[in-house]
Amino acid sequence: MKQIALFGVRSPLAVEYEETCQRAGIAIPFAVNVAGAPRLLTTALIFELDDLEPHHLETACIVCAFSPVRRRALVETALKAGFTIADALVDPASTIASSARVGAGSYINAGCVIGALSMIGDHVMFNRSSSAGHHTILADYVSVGPGATLAGNVRVGEGSVIGAGSIILPGLRIGAGAVVAAGALVRHHVPDGILVAGNPAVRHAFNFHRSSLNLPDAE
Ligand SMILES: CC(C)(COP(=O)(O)OP(=O)(O)OC[C@H]1O[C@@H](n2cnc3c(N)ncnc32)[C@H](O)[C@@H]1OP(=O)(O)O)[C@@H](O)C(=O)NCCC(=O)NCCS
Repeated sequence: MKQIALFGVRSPLAVEYEETCQRAGIAIPFAVNVAGAPRLLTTALIFELDDLEPHHLETACIVCAFSPVRRRALVETALKAGFTIADALVDPASTIASSARVGAGSYINAGCVIGALSMIGDHVMFNRSSSAGHHTILADYVSVGPGATLAGNVRVGEGSVIGAGSIILPGLRIGAGAVVAAGALVRHHVPDGILVAGNPAVRHAFNFHRSSLNLPDAE
């Protein structure tokens, strides 16, 4: 039976990773907690970083977080500890085109659709019922919120957040570190590091360090 270790399980989203593993018939032999209280459904064995033993490193892991910042930090911590990153975790209730590629450490929750010839980077997260049309290219560490729709041939730069229920029209480019707010209708390219919100989406001020995206509970 395939197995994956869950790494960094203080995010409330960790339970979604667990449910997907259960649906996919993937065992979780243990989880690794990295600061904060672990939030898991099961009573799987949970280890703190300092309590890991060499044999734990034989199981590839996947990190649990919606925030690209937190995900990147967890990946760096896992690699430093000696873990390898698991292949993408894809919920069996999602449809990935056979010609699409999904990178290592990425998580595709239930109800997602990824279109033909799409290239999804490493450590990307697609939350439930989101979709990406054909020829979509997502760089590493992109997070896509529940129900977001990326039309065909959209490109998204590294570490960007595409908020819940947003719509990005075909052929648009979203820069690196950009934020598309929940419910936005994006009609124009979005430069690096810019927040857009509303219908039609317009630019708003964005304070990275004070953003709700980077609160522990938003993980
Ligand atoms: C975009 C978002 C990250 C902004 O949060 P933030 O960084 O804490 O910033 P603020 O709440 O201060 O909002 C910044 C500005 O954008 C506006 N704004 C934020 N979200 C908006 C939305 N969904 N629709 C319209 N305007 C929005 C705010 O009114 C504010 O406008 P102002 O500059 O004119 O005052 C957040 O509102 C959001 O939409 N998050 C989506 C998260 C998500 O989908 N999570 C899924 C987890 S599974």
